[in-house]
Amino acid sequence: MEFASDLLPVNNRPIGVFDSGLGGLTVARAIATALPHESIYYLGDTKRCPYGVRTEDEVRSFVLQAGRWLAARDIKIMIIACNTATAAGLRIAQQMLPVPVIGVIAPGARAAINSTRTRKVGVLATPLTVRTGAYTRAIQALDAGVAVYGCPAPSFVEIVENELATGAHLQERWLQNGDVFDTPETCEEVARTLVPIVESGAEVDTVVLGCTHFPLLAGPIRKALGPNVRVVSSAEETTRELTDILQRREQLADEDIEPQHRFATTSDNIAEFAAAGSFIFGQPLKSIEHISLDELNNY
Ligand code: DGL
Repeated sequence: MEFASDLLPVNNRPIGVFDSGLGGLTVARAIATALPHESIYYLGDTKRCPYGVRTEDEVRSFVLQAGRWLAARDIKIMIIACNTATAAGLRIAQQMLPVPVIGVIAPGARAAINSTRTRKVGVLATPLTVRTGAYTRAIQALDAGVAVYGCPAPSFVEIVENELATGAHLQERWLQNGDVFDTPETCEEVARTLVPIVESGAEVDTVVLGCTHFPLLAGPIRKALGPNVRVVSSAEETTRELTDILQRREQLADEDIEPQHRFATTSDNIAEFAAAGSFIFGQPLKSIEHISLDELNNY
């Protein structure tokens, strides 16, 4: 079903949500839960995922393409539901796009500040996000006395995307298992990656999941960090910021509106995106379209 958004008043237009792949659906899910009347237009650039091992320039250009593509579909606001894309491209997206754009790093920083008591925070993120220092800046803009320990996790995005691609999470044994990623191999890799935080002796009491794929690995991450470290993510805090903005601008969708969520992906395998995406989003992805990279490159 087509969105006739040119006929829609601004408040009933969809919220654009963008990620390099499936991880941003953790944010989309939080939005759909908190704001059940809002329609979401999700774009996952699965074919070019992961972004976290690319250069900043490259990711910046992908963010602009995605933003222009979504803006052409009459979204009322864009959420960059990817920390890597936020770190590289939030600023340019805000400067170049005709709609307001919010990222996930400032909300993630707020979640960390609200949690820490030792004022020592670990940031678990992709190599690019850690390299940009965006989290350190965002956290210290809120409290300049907080020490930030960046921990790059170069393998986590692929672990999540590959595990989801196998479809194993859809089998009954996984669904009964609670945490689908809690396998010995993943736990070992997660523990190995977290050594710099766990063994730093730095009294880190809060670790922010600085990548929207990582909430899916929360089980193994909690296990590796132990019971004294709180694990926070940006999804709920981003949703709070979004709600606040829409409320103040009087742009919340009418309550008698039935939301129509739409999903677009650069993946060639729509079935795989649908299965994994429905699992993360928590409800079936009913309307999915494929966009070629050629099309996206034109934006
Ligand atoms: N979900 C993205 C993030 O929040 C993953 C980045 C990637 O594609 O490497 O950083």
